[in-house]
Amino acid sequence: MKLLVTGGAGFIGSNFILYWVKTHPNDFIVNLDKLTYAGNLENLKEIQGNSNYLFVKGDICNRETVKKAMDGVDVVVHFAAESHVDRSIMNPEDFVTTNVVGTQVLLDIAVEKKVKRFHHVSTDEVFGALELGSSSKFTENAPYDPHSPYSASKAGSDHLVRAYADTYGLPITITNCSNNFGPYQFPEKMIPLAITNVMEGKKIPIYGDGLYVRDWLYVEDHCKAIDLVLAKGIVGQTYCVGGLTQDISNLEVAKKILKILGKDESYIEFVKDRPGHDRRYAIDWSKIKTELSWEPLHDFDSWLEKTVSWYKENEWWWKDIKNRSYKEYYDKQYGQR
Ligand code: NAD
Ligand code: TYD
Repeated sequence: MKLLVTGGAGFIGSNFILYWVKTHPNDFIVNLDKLTYAGNLENLKEIQGNSNYLFVKGDICNRETVKKAMDGVDVVVHFAAESHVDRSIMNPEDFVTTNVVGTQVLLDIAVEKKVKRFHHVSTDEVFGALELGSSSKFTENAPYDPHSPYSASKAGSDHLVRAYADTYGLPITITNCSNNFGPYQFPEKMIPLAITNVMEGKKIPIYGDGLYVRDWLYVEDHCKAIDLVLAKGIVGQTYCVGGLTQDISNLEVAKKILKILGKDESYIEFVKDRPGHDRRYAIDWSKIKTELSWEPLHDFDSWLEKTVSWYKENEWWWKDIKNRSYKEYYDKQYGQR
């Protein structure tokens, strides 16, 4: 089988490619990635020279590039996106361009090339926010109610993917998953930012009261879920994918990281809240469990500890990133420290 993975040099995309090469060694993978600030080929160093892997640098908004990359492809797994909420608040335009227009270009070419499956990787953030303290969870039937330019652009892409299935008969599947964590996550997101800041002797910025809740999913569990959806998922269906945490606040996550790193709570700094900040996310993943026998296998505490170890052992990976253009973004978001 030949797969086109978009955004394969990013956090989840690169973990997915490394997972796929190990679990499906006879498949051929084309990785189409623009290499924005978030893309990093170092993530894929171990498979660089493999005969069953090809990297193509290019933009999903460019039809000619996409046409070439999708040649002879059976399955598209679409990760490429602008993915950080805070950046979407600073500059929404890139989010609409890549997440909406880029997805539409991919869909057009996928119809033209008659791909056997177009799998769209989406987020639970399209469903908006749940109330703190409630036991409600997002399911596949939750209404769309995005609040940030990021989630609105992902919602737009989800709608387009379904519209292409209904209108042109494109065989699609969608996963809406919760917050991932694990190796190779760009240090602008909460967990890697917290770990690397403390390692640099800096504080962990906590937005608002810190009582915001995310549903944390270890990245390998996410990769396995996509694998199962490709193998056994029903065309046209959406699957919600979530982790094993039960309403753990950002403040608790920060405290756990500090404990693992042997530091005290003076490393926590409350900062200005994010505008439109979603209070709580939680995923009901019973559909994918019942239908495809998937469930998350990596518990939060042990795999957070392993993730911290990964960042400790791979300073070369994130130190370089933190010293580059990222610094400009950091100073704009958090003020110069
Ligand atoms: P990321 O920001 O780490 O990586 C995105 C990748 O896409 C980068 O390699 C970047 O270079 C590439 N890219 C961006 N614009 C492109 C373009 N126009 N053309 C080609 N490539 C482009 O993101 P991630 O965290 O790995 O997320 C991957 C996907 O999963 C996204 O679609 C995101 O919405 C979704 N998702 C992420 C999470 C999470 O917790 N990280 C949760 C739910 C869903
Ligand atoms: P983030 O990793 O940006 O993911 P998302 O916004 O897509 O859920 O943020 C996770 C949570 O952590 C979210 O509630 C915002 C919060 N947060 C902070 O409190 N401080 C920070 O510096 C960052 C980046 C996030």
